[in-house]
Amino acid sequence: MEYFADIFTKPFIKRYHYKKILEIGASFGHHSDQLLETVPDQLTIIDPCFDTDLIKKFCSFIQVKPIKGLSLEILPQMSERFDCVFIDGDHNWYTVYHELKIIHEKNLVRKGGTILLHDVGWPYGRRDMYYLPESIPKEFLHPAAKKGMIQGKSELVAEGFNANLLNAAREGGPHNGVLTAVEDFLKEHHGKYFFAMTTQQYGLGLLVREPSLAKIFFAWRLLAGVDLKHFLRANKKLIFSALTFLYMGVLTYLSIQPAPDSSGASVSQRVLHNLCHIPAYAVLYYLVIESLARFSTKAKVAAFTITILFGAFNEYLQSFVPSRQASFGDILLNGIGALGMMWILRKRVADRV
Ligand SMILES: C[S@@+](CC[C@H](N)C(=O)[O-])C[C@H]1O[C@@H](n2cnc3c(N)ncnc32)[C@H](O)[C@@H]1O
Repeated sequence: MEYFADIFTKPFIKRYHYKKILEIGASFGHHSDQLLETVPDQLTIIDPCFDTDLIKKFCSFIQVKPIKGLSLEILPQMSERFDCVFIDGDHNWYTVYHELKIIHEKNLVRKGGTILLHDVGWPYGRRDMYYLPESIPKEFLHPAAKKGMIQGKSELVAEGFNANLLNAAREGGPHNGVLTAVEDFLKEHHGKYFFAMTTQQYGLGLLVREPSLAKIFFAWRLLAGVDLKHFLRANKKLIFSALTFLYMGVLTYLSIQPAPDSSGASVSQRVLHNLCHIPAYAVLYYLVIESLARFSTKAKVAAFTITILFGAFNEYLQSFVPSRQASFGDILLNGIGALGMMWILRKRVADRV
Protein backbone atom coordinates (compact mmCIF):
# COMPACT_ATOMS: atom_id res chain seq x y z
CA MET A 1 0.00 0.00 0.00
CA GLU A 2 2.92 2.29 0.79
CA TYR A 3 3.88 2.18 -2.91
CA PHE A 4 0.71 4.14 -3.76
CA ALA A 5 1.05 6.78 -1.04
CA ASP A 6 2.71 9.50 -3.11
CA ILE A 7 1.39 8.60 -6.53
CA PHE A 8 -2.23 8.02 -5.59
CA THR A 9 -3.41 8.00 -1.99
CA LYS A 10 -2.12 11.31 -0.68
CA PRO A 11 -3.14 13.41 -3.72
CA PHE A 12 -6.59 11.77 -3.66
CA ILE A 13 -7.13 12.42 0.07
CA LYS A 14 -5.87 16.00 -0.25
CA ARG A 15 -8.00 16.78 -3.30
CA TYR A 16 -11.21 15.73 -1.52
CA HIS A 17 -10.29 17.05 1.93
CA TYR A 18 -10.86 13.65 3.47
CA LYS A 19 -10.31 14.05 7.21
CA LYS A 20 -11.58 10.89 8.87
CA ILE A 21 -9.83 7.76 7.74
CA LEU A 22 -10.17 4.11 8.74
CA GLU A 23 -7.32 1.73 7.97
CA ILE A 24 -7.89 -2.03 8.19
CA GLY A 25 -4.57 -3.92 8.31
CA ALA A 26 -1.59 -1.72 9.08
CA SER A 27 1.25 -4.18 9.75
CA PHE A 28 4.19 -2.04 10.97
CA GLY A 29 2.24 1.18 10.37
CA HIS A 30 4.40 2.44 7.50
CA HIS A 31 1.39 3.35 5.37
CA SER A 32 -0.26 4.91 8.43
CA ASP A 33 2.83 7.12 8.83
CA GLN A 34 2.30 8.32 5.27
CA LEU A 35 -1.40 8.96 5.87
CA LEU A 36 -0.60 11.09 8.91
CA GLU A 37 1.03 13.62 6.59
CA THR A 38 -2.36 14.35 5.04
CA VAL A 39 -4.91 13.51 7.74
CA PRO A 40 -4.85 16.01 10.54
CA ASP A 41 -8.22 15.03 12.06
CA GLN A 42 -8.52 11.31 12.68
CA LEU A 43 -6.95 8.03 11.69
CA THR A 44 -8.53 4.89 13.13
CA ILE A 45 -6.60 1.63 12.68
CA ILE A 46 -7.91 -1.92 13.07
CA ASP A 47 -5.18 -4.55 13.22
CA PRO A 48 -4.48 -7.61 15.41
CA CYS A 49 -0.93 -6.25 15.82
CA PHE A 50 0.81 -9.41 14.62
CA ASP A 51 3.79 -7.45 13.35
CA THR A 52 4.14 -4.65 15.91
CA ASP A 53 2.35 -3.04 18.84
CA LEU A 54 0.54 -0.22 17.02
CA ILE A 55 -0.96 1.12 20.24
CA LYS A 56 2.52 1.73 21.58
CA LYS A 57 3.78 3.06 18.23
CA PHE A 58 1.08 5.71 17.99
CA CYS A 59 0.63 6.51 21.71
CA SER A 60 1.89 10.08 21.26
CA PHE A 61 -0.48 10.88 18.35
CA ILE A 62 -3.83 12.11 19.65
CA GLN A 63 -5.35 11.91 16.16
CA VAL A 64 -4.54 8.18 15.83
CA LYS A 65 -6.85 5.59 17.34
CA PRO A 66 -5.41 2.08 16.96
CA ILE A 67 -7.82 -0.74 17.81
CA LYS A 68 -6.26 -4.15 18.37
CA GLY A 69 -8.51 -6.83 16.88
CA LEU A 70 -9.94 -8.43 13.78
CA SER A 71 -11.96 -6.35 11.33
CA LEU A 72 -15.02 -8.62 11.36
CA GLU A 73 -15.19 -8.37 15.15
CA ILE A 74 -14.53 -4.63 15.43
CA LEU A 75 -16.48 -3.20 12.45
CA PRO A 76 -19.93 -4.32 13.69
CA GLN A 77 -19.32 -2.36 16.91
CA MET A 78 -18.51 0.88 15.11
CA SER A 79 -20.94 3.68 14.42
CA GLU A 80 -18.71 6.47 13.09
CA ARG A 81 -18.81 7.72 9.54
CA PHE A 82 -15.52 7.85 7.64
CA ASP A 83 -14.48 9.74 4.53
CA CYS A 84 -12.18 6.98 3.42
CA VAL A 85 -11.55 3.34 4.37
CA PHE A 86 -8.41 1.38 3.46
CA ILE A 87 -8.77 -2.39 3.32
CA ASP A 88 -5.47 -4.26 3.50
CA GLY A 89 -6.02 -6.86 6.23
CA ASP A 90 -6.74 -10.54 5.70
CA HIS A 91 -6.65 -11.14 1.95
CA ASN A 92 -9.43 -13.67 1.46
CA TRP A 93 -12.91 -13.66 -0.03
CA TYR A 94 -14.79 -14.22 3.21
CA THR A 95 -13.09 -11.43 5.13
CA VAL A 96 -13.11 -8.80 2.36
CA TYR A 97 -16.69 -9.51 1.23
CA HIS A 98 -17.95 -9.17 4.81
CA GLU A 99 -15.82 -6.11 5.52
CA LEU A 100 -17.47 -4.41 2.52
CA LYS A 101 -20.91 -5.63 3.53
CA ILE A 102 -20.61 -4.32 7.10
CA ILE A 103 -19.10 -1.00 5.98
CA HIS A 104 -22.03 -0.54 3.60
CA GLU A 105 -24.82 -1.70 5.91
CA LYS A 106 -23.57 0.33 8.86
CA ASN A 107 -22.92 3.39 6.70
CA LEU A 108 -19.33 3.51 7.89
CA VAL A 109 -18.30 5.30 4.72
CA ARG A 110 -20.25 8.43 3.88
CA LYS A 111 -21.80 9.23 0.49
CA GLY A 112 -19.00 10.50 -1.77
CA GLY A 113 -16.52 8.65 0.44
CA THR A 114 -14.08 6.05 -0.84
CA ILE A 115 -13.01 2.52 -0.01
CA LEU A 116 -9.51 1.63 -1.22
CA LEU A 117 -8.48 -2.02 -1.40
CA HIS A 118 -5.02 -3.41 -1.84
CA ASP A 119 -4.30 -6.80 -3.50
CA VAL A 120 -7.05 -6.82 -6.11
CA GLY A 121 -4.41 -7.87 -8.67
CA TRP A 122 -2.11 -10.89 -8.76
CA PRO A 123 -1.56 -12.90 -6.58
CA TYR A 124 -4.56 -12.37 -4.27
CA GLY A 125 -7.16 -10.97 -6.67
CA ARG A 126 -8.34 -14.52 -7.43
CA ARG A 127 -6.71 -16.50 -4.63
CA ASP A 128 -7.34 -16.50 -0.88
CA MET A 129 -4.64 -16.04 1.72
CA TYR A 130 -5.27 -16.62 5.40
CA TYR A 131 -3.57 -14.92 8.34
CA LEU A 132 -6.00 -16.62 10.73
CA PRO A 133 -7.70 -19.60 9.05
CA GLU A 134 -9.51 -20.44 12.31
CA SER A 135 -11.46 -17.16 11.97
CA ILE A 136 -12.99 -18.26 8.62
CA PRO A 137 -16.10 -20.53 8.56
CA LYS A 138 -15.16 -23.98 7.21
CA GLU A 139 -17.44 -23.75 4.15
CA PHE A 140 -15.48 -20.68 2.95
CA LEU A 141 -12.04 -21.98 3.72
CA HIS A 142 -10.19 -23.29 0.65
CA PRO A 143 -7.53 -26.00 1.04
CA ALA A 144 -4.34 -24.03 1.63
CA ALA A 145 -0.63 -24.50 2.23
CA LYS A 146 2.45 -22.47 3.08
CA LYS A 147 3.79 -22.63 -0.46
CA GLY A 148 4.64 -20.05 -3.10
CA MET A 149 2.92 -18.79 -6.24
CA ILE A 150 3.96 -18.23 -9.84
CA GLN A 151 1.93 -15.95 -12.11
CA GLY A 152 -0.09 -17.97 -14.63
CA LYS A 153 0.03 -21.17 -12.58
CA SER A 154 -2.97 -22.13 -10.45
CA GLU A 155 -1.21 -24.75 -8.28
CA LEU A 156 1.18 -23.70 -5.54
CA VAL A 157 4.89 -24.40 -5.90
CA ALA A 158 7.54 -25.11 -3.28
CA GLU A 159 9.45 -21.94 -4.11
CA GLY A 160 7.75 -18.90 -5.58
CA PHE A 161 6.17 -15.72 -4.28
CA ASN A 162 5.03 -15.42 -0.62
CA ALA A 163 5.91 -19.05 0.16
CA ASN A 164 5.87 -18.19 3.89
CA LEU A 165 2.14 -17.37 3.87
CA LEU A 166 -0.87 -19.66 3.94
CA ASN A 167 -2.12 -19.48 0.35
CA ALA A 168 -5.16 -21.20 -1.18
CA ALA A 169 -4.07 -24.31 -3.09
CA ARG A 170 -5.82 -23.16 -6.29
CA GLU A 171 -6.45 -19.84 -8.00
CA GLY A 172 -9.88 -18.83 -9.30
CA GLY A 173 -13.37 -20.15 -8.90
CA PRO A 174 -16.11 -18.88 -6.61
CA HIS A 175 -15.44 -17.31 -3.22
CA ASN A 176 -11.74 -17.08 -3.92
CA GLY A 177 -9.69 -13.88 -3.73
CA VAL A 178 -10.02 -10.17 -2.99
CA LEU A 179 -11.22 -9.06 -6.45
CA THR A 180 -13.87 -11.80 -6.50
CA ALA A 181 -15.11 -10.47 -3.14
CA VAL A 182 -15.37 -6.93 -4.56
CA GLU A 183 -17.23 -8.17 -7.64
CA ASP A 184 -19.67 -10.20 -5.53
CA PHE A 185 -20.28 -7.16 -3.33
CA LEU A 186 -20.85 -4.95 -6.38
CA LYS A 187 -23.39 -7.39 -7.86
CA GLU A 188 -25.56 -6.67 -4.83
CA HIS A 189 -25.13 -2.89 -4.97
CA HIS A 190 -25.66 -1.98 -8.61
CA GLY A 191 -25.14 1.69 -9.34
CA LYS A 192 -24.26 2.67 -5.78
CA TYR A 193 -20.51 2.43 -6.20
CA PHE A 194 -18.03 3.37 -8.89
CA PHE A 195 -15.21 0.83 -9.14
CA ALA A 196 -11.83 1.24 -10.82
CA MET A 197 -8.54 -0.53 -10.32
CA THR A 198 -4.95 -0.80 -11.41
CA THR A 199 -3.10 -4.11 -11.49
CA GLN A 200 0.23 -2.50 -10.56
CA GLN A 201 1.98 -3.51 -7.34
CA TYR A 202 -0.46 -6.33 -6.52
CA GLY A 203 -3.42 -4.18 -7.48
CA LEU A 204 -5.19 -1.20 -5.99
CA GLY A 205 -8.98 -1.00 -6.22
CA LEU A 206 -11.14 2.00 -5.55
CA LEU A 207 -14.83 1.99 -4.65
CA VAL A 208 -16.41 5.43 -4.48
CA ARG A 209 -19.82 5.54 -2.84
CA GLU A 210 -22.33 7.56 -4.90
CA PRO A 211 -19.63 9.72 -6.49
CA SER A 212 -19.87 12.90 -8.48
CA LEU A 213 -18.74 12.74 -12.11
CA ALA A 214 -15.80 14.97 -11.22
CA LYS A 215 -14.61 12.51 -8.60
CA ILE A 216 -14.93 9.59 -11.02
CA PHE A 217 -12.85 11.48 -13.54
CA PHE A 218 -10.18 12.49 -11.00
CA ALA A 219 -9.90 8.94 -9.59
CA TRP A 220 -9.67 7.48 -13.06
CA ARG A 221 -7.03 10.00 -14.11
CA LEU A 222 -4.90 9.22 -11.04
CA LEU A 223 -5.15 5.48 -11.62
CA ALA A 224 -4.28 5.90 -15.29
CA GLY A 225 -1.27 7.91 -14.08
CA VAL A 226 -0.21 4.96 -11.90
CA ASP A 227 -0.40 2.69 -14.93
CA LEU A 228 1.49 5.13 -17.13
CA LYS A 229 4.31 5.55 -14.60
CA HIS A 230 4.58 1.80 -14.25
CA PHE A 231 4.62 1.38 -18.03
CA LEU A 232 7.39 3.96 -18.39
CA ARG A 233 9.45 2.40 -15.61
CA ALA A 234 8.96 -1.14 -16.89
CA ASN A 235 9.83 -0.21 -20.48
CA LYS A 236 12.44 2.45 -19.81
CA LYS A 237 15.23 0.64 -21.63
CA LEU A 238 13.11 0.06 -24.70
CA ILE A 239 11.81 3.64 -24.79
CA PHE A 240 15.32 5.10 -24.46
CA SER A 241 16.68 2.76 -27.14
CA ALA A 242 13.96 3.90 -29.55
CA LEU A 243 14.64 7.56 -28.69
CA THR A 244 18.38 7.02 -29.22
CA PHE A 245 17.88 5.61 -32.73
CA LEU A 246 15.46 8.39 -33.56
CA TYR A 247 17.88 11.02 -32.30
CA MET A 248 20.78 9.46 -34.20
CA GLY A 249 18.65 9.60 -37.35
CA VAL A 250 17.99 13.31 -36.80
CA LEU A 251 21.71 14.03 -36.19
CA THR A 252 22.73 12.15 -39.34
CA TYR A 253 20.04 13.91 -41.38
CA LEU A 254 21.26 17.31 -40.17
CA SER A 255 24.92 16.56 -40.76
CA ILE A 256 24.45 15.47 -44.39
CA GLN A 257 22.61 18.63 -45.36
CA PRO A 258 24.56 20.89 -47.69
CA ALA A 259 26.22 23.69 -45.72
CA PRO A 260 24.35 26.99 -45.73
CA ASP A 261 26.15 29.78 -47.48
CA SER A 262 28.33 31.04 -44.64
CA SER A 263 30.29 33.62 -46.61
CA GLY A 264 28.31 36.37 -44.88
CA ALA A 265 28.53 34.78 -41.41
CA SER A 266 30.84 36.32 -38.84
CA VAL A 267 33.53 34.26 -37.10
CA SER A 268 31.54 34.27 -33.85
CA GLN A 269 28.47 32.95 -35.70
CA ARG A 270 30.54 30.12 -37.19
CA VAL A 271 32.07 29.29 -33.80
CA LEU A 272 28.60 29.27 -32.23
CA HIS A 273 27.39 26.91 -34.95
CA ASN A 274 30.26 24.52 -34.25
CA LEU A 275 29.70 24.72 -30.50
CA CYS A 276 26.24 23.19 -31.04
CA HIS A 277 28.10 19.86 -31.20
CA ILE A 278 28.59 20.02 -27.43
CA PRO A 279 24.90 19.96 -26.30
CA ALA A 280 23.92 17.75 -29.27
CA TYR A 281 26.35 14.98 -28.28
CA ALA A 282 25.76 15.51 -24.56
CA VAL A 283 22.13 14.56 -25.25
CA LEU A 284 23.25 11.58 -27.34
CA TYR A 285 25.48 10.32 -24.51
CA TYR A 286 22.54 10.69 -22.08
CA LEU A 287 20.19 8.70 -24.33
CA VAL A 288 22.79 5.96 -24.89
CA ILE A 289 23.58 5.48 -21.21
CA GLU A 290 19.87 5.44 -20.30
CA SER A 291 19.34 2.79 -23.01
CA LEU A 292 22.08 0.69 -21.43
CA ALA A 293 20.32 1.29 -18.07
CA ARG A 294 23.62 0.85 -16.29
CA PHE A 295 25.95 3.37 -14.69
CA SER A 296 29.06 1.30 -14.05
CA THR A 297 32.44 2.48 -15.37
CA LYS A 298 32.20 -0.15 -18.10
CA ALA A 299 28.80 1.21 -19.17
CA LYS A 300 30.12 4.78 -19.15
CA VAL A 301 33.05 3.80 -21.37
CA ALA A 302 30.68 1.93 -23.71
CA ALA A 303 28.28 4.90 -23.94
CA PHE A 304 31.15 7.32 -24.54
CA THR A 305 32.66 5.09 -27.25
CA ILE A 306 29.30 4.71 -29.02
CA THR A 307 28.77 8.48 -28.92
CA ILE A 308 32.23 9.26 -30.30
CA LEU A 309 32.14 6.55 -32.99
CA PHE A 310 28.73 7.73 -34.11
CA GLY A 311 29.99 11.33 -34.31
CA ALA A 312 33.04 10.21 -36.30
CA PHE A 313 30.81 8.22 -38.66
CA ASN A 314 28.70 11.35 -39.27
CA GLU A 315 31.85 13.34 -40.00
CA TYR A 316 32.87 10.65 -42.49
CA LEU A 317 29.47 10.91 -44.22
CA GLN A 318 29.83 14.68 -44.27
CA SER A 319 33.02 14.37 -46.31
CA PHE A 320 30.87 13.17 -49.26
CA VAL A 321 28.57 16.18 -49.10
CA PRO A 322 29.56 18.97 -51.47
CA SER A 323 30.46 22.13 -49.54
CA ARG A 324 31.03 20.18 -46.29
CA GLN A 325 34.04 18.40 -44.91
CA ALA A 326 34.95 16.06 -42.08
CA SER A 327 36.29 17.94 -39.08
CA PHE A 328 38.44 16.56 -36.30
CA GLY A 329 37.55 19.64 -34.23
CA ASP A 330 33.86 18.62 -34.34
CA ILE A 331 34.72 15.15 -33.03
CA LEU A 332 36.58 16.81 -30.20
CA LEU A 333 33.55 18.99 -29.41
CA ASN A 334 31.35 15.87 -29.44
CA GLY A 335 33.71 14.34 -26.88
CA ILE A 336 33.48 17.44 -24.68
CA GLY A 337 29.67 17.20 -24.79
CA ALA A 338 29.72 13.51 -23.84
CA LEU A 339 32.22 14.08 -21.02
CA GLY A 340 30.17 17.03 -19.76
CA MET A 341 27.06 14.87 -19.54
CA MET A 342 29.08 12.11 -17.87
CA TRP A 343 30.10 14.65 -15.24
CA ILE A 344 26.49 15.85 -14.76
CA LEU A 345 25.35 12.26 -14.25
CA ARG A 346 28.30 11.34 -12.00
CA LYS A 347 26.06 10.76 -8.98
CA ARG A 348 23.96 8.09 -10.71
CA VAL A 349 24.21 4.73 -8.96
CA ALA A 350 26.33 2.09 -10.64
CA ASP A 351 24.44 -0.71 -12.36
CA ARG A 352 21.03 0.80 -11.77
CA VAL A 353 18.51 -1.22 -13.75
C1 LIG B 1 -0.35 -6.63 4.12
S1 LIG B 1 -0.29 -6.19 5.77
C2 LIG B 1 -0.78 -4.53 5.77
C3 LIG B 1 0.26 -3.61 5.24
C4 LIG B 1 -0.05 -2.15 5.46
N1 LIG B 1 -1.33 -1.77 4.95
C5 LIG B 1 1.03 -1.30 4.80
O1 LIG B 1 0.87 -0.89 3.62
O2 LIG B 1 2.07 -1.07 5.42
C6 LIG B 1 -1.70 -6.99 6.37
C7 LIG B 1 -1.93 -6.76 7.84
O3 LIG B 1 -3.30 -7.09 8.12
C8 LIG B 1 -3.39 -7.51 9.43
N2 LIG B 1 -4.57 -8.37 9.51
C9 LIG B 1 -4.67 -9.68 9.25
N3 LIG B 1 -5.93 -10.11 9.43
C10 LIG B 1 -6.65 -9.02 9.78
C11 LIG B 1 -8.01 -8.81 10.09
N4 LIG B 1 -8.90 -9.80 10.06
N5 LIG B 1 -8.41 -7.56 10.43
C12 LIG B 1 -7.51 -6.54 10.45
N6 LIG B 1 -6.21 -6.68 10.15
C13 LIG B 1 -5.79 -7.91 9.82
C14 LIG B 1 -2.08 -8.20 9.73
O4 LIG B 1 -1.68 -7.89 11.04
C15 LIG B 1 -1.11 -7.63 8.75
O5 LIG B 1 -0.17 -6.85 9.39
